[in-house]
Amino acid sequence: KSKADMIVVSNRLPVDHDPSVEGGWRRSPGGLVAALEPVLQQTGGAWVGWPGTAGLELEPFELDGMELVPVTLTDEDVELYYEGFSNDTIWPLYHDVISPPAYHREWWEAYVRVNERFAAAAASVAAPGAVVWVQDYQLQLVPRLLRALRPDVVIGYFHHIPFPAYGLFAQLPWRKHVLAGLVGADVIGFQRVQDAGNFTNAVRRQLGFETKSGAIRVVADDGSVRTAVAKAYPISIDTQLYDEIARRPEVQARAKEIRASLGDPQTVIFGVDRLDYTKGIGHRLKAYGELLEEGRLDVEHVTLVQVASPSRERVAAYMQLRDEIELTVGRINGDHDTVGHTAIRYLHHSYPREEMVALYLAADVMLVTALRDGMNLVAKEYVASRIDSRGVLVLSEFTGAADELSQAVKVNPHDIDGLKDAIMAAVEMQPAEQARRMRGLRRRVRDHDVADWSRRFLADLDAVRKQDA
Ligand code: G6P
Repeated sequence: KSKADMIVVSNRLPVDHDPSVEGGWRRSPGGLVAALEPVLQQTGGAWVGWPGTAGLELEPFELDGMELVPVTLTDEDVELYYEGFSNDTIWPLYHDVISPPAYHREWWEAYVRVNERFAAAAASVAAPGAVVWVQDYQLQLVPRLLRALRPDVVIGYFHHIPFPAYGLFAQLPWRKHVLAGLVGADVIGFQRVQDAGNFTNAVRRQLGFETKSGAIRVVADDGSVRTAVAKAYPISIDTQLYDEIARRPEVQARAKEIRASLGDPQTVIFGVDRLDYTKGIGHRLKAYGELLEEGRLDVEHVTLVQVASPSRERVAAYMQLRDEIELTVGRINGDHDTVGHTAIRYLHHSYPREEMVALYLAADVMLVTALRDGMNLVAKEYVASRIDSRGVLVLSEFTGAADELSQAVKVNPHDIDGLKDAIMAAVEMQPAEQARRMRGLRRRVRDHDVADWSRRFLADLDAVRKQDA
């Protein structure tokens, strides 16, 4: 088997195994895959990851111009490493404990074991001196483990979710191990400047390493010293692709059809999220429900379309969230629907990209009300799809995207009255003002796309390689 010069390592492969769809593979959920797929297709490297089904053992294979290297997770690994430590310990802890994190030693042990497996898989496909780019919170130990196996490779790590303030991070019983794992990378990337700052602060306090404007003096167990860099690289989307899809006549026709099927309301409000407690879906529904209740919005003229794509359905906090959201949707619709009009069109599905763009084009107001979000690529996808420079983005200040998208209508989703006023301002915004804001937003997303993101990250990694040589 030939070895690769560029390797992406992430928990999920860009496709999920699904025997029920044509070809047997379906695009994986979430922003990580959406961002990295174009990068790897262009560089033609290998992608190491889990095919999304427990127990599945597969040989490496080619798909859409990428070499995919599957890592097997047993039922137990999925339960303890993925659903447990990754998504019921790290995920809630790193999202400011919106839901309480659980700390279990068995979960940690599985996390270590599975991180070792990913590191070994990456080590076995890397050509001498290769660049290995590790992704996200499920694999925080891989940089250090991989360095021990393959001191010749250059290691990058990108953290797609927030890195919490020290006072929260310090709860983690295995905090030192996690930090030591991460500083095994040469470059450690974060979404926001704030995340990189929280990380270097934790490294200083827990590992005692000196840091200076993002440069970390890493002292290994044998006393040798190297420099790792922690820095912000806000991730983005393939802007041009969204722009191109939005220009297709059939997609524009579909957008019209969507509005017609909703009864051609004056205003379509849209939300789309993985069904996750970080996304503030409940806060959004509360604000919308109160606006209907108070008569500031009228169900004859407005519809909220909420796409909630299924996610992590075996984790208790997600089951509970689903029950809560569906109860709330049912109540609001029961109270406000008329025979011909519905207050909320709730869709517990995920959709192909073309349909998403049609929905973006059909939406007058886009609601992104996350309580905490590393970046939020939906906000950027909406902007990139609005080739007509119309529509209003309402954006939570607790997203990474808020640092960049300054012409959005900013909200604190915890402030329900503020959120209601922001929704009304968006619904009532004049076309000229919409266009002025949207043009500024579009410029930002055009000039900072995902290719630009990976170029910046990989250039910094390359600088490390030159230093080593
Ligand atoms: C977020 C995370 C990704 C994750 C995705 C989907 O975007 O940053 O690492 O892959 O959610 O979640 P899942 O648990 O289904 O992979």
